[in-house]
Amino acid sequence: MMAPMRRAILAANWKMNMTLAVGRAFVEELLARPLPAGVEVVLCPPHTLLHSLGKQLKGTSLKLGAQNMYFEESGAFTGEISPLMLQDAGVDYVILGHSERRALFQEDDGLVGKKVAAAMARGLGPIFCVGETLKEREGGETLAVVERQLSGGLAAVPREQAGELVIAYEPVWAIGSGRAATGEDAREVAAFIRRFYRDQFGREAEAGLRVQYGGSVKGANIREFTGYPEIDGALVGGASLKAGSWYEILQAVGQQVSAP
Ligand code: PGA
Repeated sequence: MMAPMRRAILAANWKMNMTLAVGRAFVEELLARPLPAGVEVVLCPPHTLLHSLGKQLKGTSLKLGAQNMYFEESGAFTGEISPLMLQDAGVDYVILGHSERRALFQEDDGLVGKKVAAAMARGLGPIFCVGETLKEREGGETLAVVERQLSGGLAAVPREQAGELVIAYEPVWAIGSGRAATGEDAREVAAFIRRFYRDQFGREAEAGLRVQYGGSVKGANIREFTGYPEIDGALVGGASLKAGSWYEILQAVGQQVSAP
């Protein structure tokens, strides 16, 4: 069973998909259905949809997330978006350090660490992503890689803010591949993340930390992950692009958390 004091969190990472009309229709379709109590649901559209979806989600239980940001508040950083701007758009969460940002846009642990601290300082909740490549897993380096990413990403997090974080464990080889990790593999890394966090920030902060699994999650396999007490939800790409497949995931976790 899931640990009772932490609320499950499911986040939809739409990546570079959806236009405004399609995103708004998705939200309408979702809101027409009963959303599960006990599960926090976050939609992370591209930046151009944030303001409009922020207005559409106002007064609903759905939360808004962004997919990236820069760590400075304002200035000569052409093409970048700041924590202040995200806050202005009504954003609650921001995905940081996603493996696609790391691999395709050369984001390193130092940069990700600055972003995580800047988001927290603004009151935005980071969904901070870590995870190994297939080569690293096959080389037996999974925990060492995750440890390095955690050290860099959390280096500037002040102790008093540490209870507010979400960390997504996303093995790179499982993302978009249709080949999810096993529940047991995900549990092992989630437990490692929790231990690292406890050692760094103390027991109380660790009790508030929520760890997600990400990588080829769908309605049919989500409970394999959220059934473990170390895993509090998921970060979902492909299966979050249609309201129907996204809703299957919400329902599956909703039933799990409300089961006696
Ligand atoms: P996926 O993506 O669900 O399509 O594997 C997950 C992610 O990249 O966050």
